[in-house]
Amino acid sequence: MRRKLAAGNWKMNGTAAALSELEELARSFPNPSIDVLICPPATLLYRAAETVRGTDITVGGQNCHAAISGAHTGDISADMLVDAGANAVILGHSERREDHGEQNEDVRAKARVAMDAGLKAIVCVGESLEQREAANTLDIIGGQLSGSIPDQSTGENLIVAYEPIWAIGTGKVPTLDEIGEVHDFIRTRLERRFGEGVGRSVRLLYGGSVKPSNASDIFAVSNVDGALVGGASLKAQDFSGIIDALQKA
Ligand code: 13P
Repeated sequence: MRRKLAAGNWKMNGTAAALSELEELARSFPNPSIDVLICPPATLLYRAAETVRGTDITVGGQNCHAAISGAHTGDISADMLVDAGANAVILGHSERREDHGEQNEDVRAKARVAMDAGLKAIVCVGESLEQREAANTLDIIGGQLSGSIPDQSTGENLIVAYEPIWAIGTGKVPTLDEIGEVHDFIRTRLERRFGEGVGRSVRLLYGGSVKPSNASDIFAVSNVDGALVGGASLKAQDFSGIIDALQKA
């Protein structure tokens, strides 16, 4: 059985004042029946970890460097994320791929150091609108999976997030059939590469305009084990609706 996961990606949003949202979340769900993860900006990570201490909510990073340490001004290593209290890190988000030119091999190198540091790597894949319209979605996702996921992956250290770029922050969501098609495809690819046992144990998240109002429908789709949520994870009330929906799914 795969444990369901509601993950929040705060992106470049939030200063200390935002921790009150996390406090509220921790008060509402001290012992959720699913995994709940919040990935705040790096500047808030330590305080966020302190805020959820004693609850079952965990915190994670949004990126890490592929090197263990060294002369990389402004970057953060996987060990530093662990040191600040993280147990997971989002890697290869389309905004990183776009803003920082991250390629599949960069994401794979980062995932390797993250896993070596004991973090769960949430590897993001997803097609652009042009790619979907050209009916290339599964080719693109297949290439991202084989290029970005390291060989050492297991159901414990790898989570895959399918985030169609055109659905992020737009209010547009693929049809449930479209989500199911990609998630089934990802599951098959993982089983083929890692064997049925490992392939079946990796959790697959959907991300892109998930809200309390559409969460239940999305969570009913086959091979959707939870969500990676941007905008609706910033407010405890919105994210609570998504957590509720996943707990009932
Ligand atoms: P939104 O939920 O704001 O569409 O963002 C999704 C996302 O990019 C999560 O990583």
